[in-house]
Amino acid sequence: TWTSVNIVEEQVERIREQVGDARVISALSGGVDSAVSTALVQRAVGDRLTAVFVDHGLLREGEAEQVERDYVEATGVDLKVVDAVDQFLGHLAGVTDPETKRKIIGREFIRVFEAAEREVLATPGPPVKFLVQGTLYPDVVESGGGEGAANIKSHHNVGGLPEDLEFSLVEPLRTLFKDEVREVGRQLAIPEAIVGRHPFPGPGLAIRIIGEVTPERLAILRRADAIVREETTRAGLDTEIWQFPVVLLADVHSVGVQGDGRTYGHPIVLRPVSSEDAMTADWSRLPYDVLERISTRITNEVEEVNRVVLDITSKPPGTIEWE
Ligand code: XMP
Repeated sequence: TWTSVNIVEEQVERIREQVGDARVISALSGGVDSAVSTALVQRAVGDRLTAVFVDHGLLREGEAEQVERDYVEATGVDLKVVDAVDQFLGHLAGVTDPETKRKIIGREFIRVFEAAEREVLATPGPPVKFLVQGTLYPDVVESGGGEGAANIKSHHNVGGLPEDLEFSLVEPLRTLFKDEVREVGRQLAIPEAIVGRHPFPGPGLAIRIIGEVTPERLAILRRADAIVREETTRAGLDTEIWQFPVVLLADVHSVGVQGDGRTYGHPIVLRPVSSEDAMTADWSRLPYDVLERISTRITNEVEEVNRVVLDITSKPPGTIEWE
């Protein structure tokens, strides 16, 4: 019978068998799948696993810290953090086209990760032969992948992984659905803030700023997004919402009024959706009082924003993200 305890024991056994005495590398993205697969491998091989977290500066408020501090405390994983914020933002400067943003982020991710990989390879110890991949059962089915198929979907990872993959894959979540992965994560004491996280795109906040990505614009979006998450969590809506993109229309200004004066600020778009698999989606019917609190707080607390609008488009024809 399925219990998360059994799954952990069984996978730890399997991973030990597969890996033997070798070392393993893993990339943490901040998402659920990489967090749980990495923690399982850590449970199995301990410090023969090195996890790499590339901080590209495009995560939401508090998320990098949750990985660097809370996740490490809970799992004991050996984590290598690469601060690549300036590198990513430098390459994104002046770029407004969404696909170009995605390409740049994917390319830089591979560069940074490969450099980290080389550093790990250069440290003394057994040979590094394996790479952890958080592939879930639906991904396996979707790609028609049999056992051992290198099933890497660029859409779900930051640009995918290097083509000349010199590692074998360890994929401890291959038989699991998302809900089961969350259960296993809880069993491994991974903080709820990570285990309960909604799907989040690899290019992160870069594709939720319509226009150029700058540190100032990221700061505005982060504050608005943090308010949205606080209020939806407080209202107990996290499980019924599939994803809640908060989007900054950075090149749009509209007139507003505050106190005695006119303002000329940016709109923030709320895009809460319900969905089963992100292929289709419907806009979430959030309670008006929750929407009101979000709107009031954002316009009061985020000075640059003077308007909050709600996206009521289903998918299709609208996509979940705005870019
Ligand atoms: P759309 O906007 O196409 O999104 O309705 C469907 C799902 O995919 C996610 N998404 C991405 N994930 N890299 C990712 O890893 C991307 O470039 C990307 N674009 C969209 C989106 O968040 C939703 O879950």
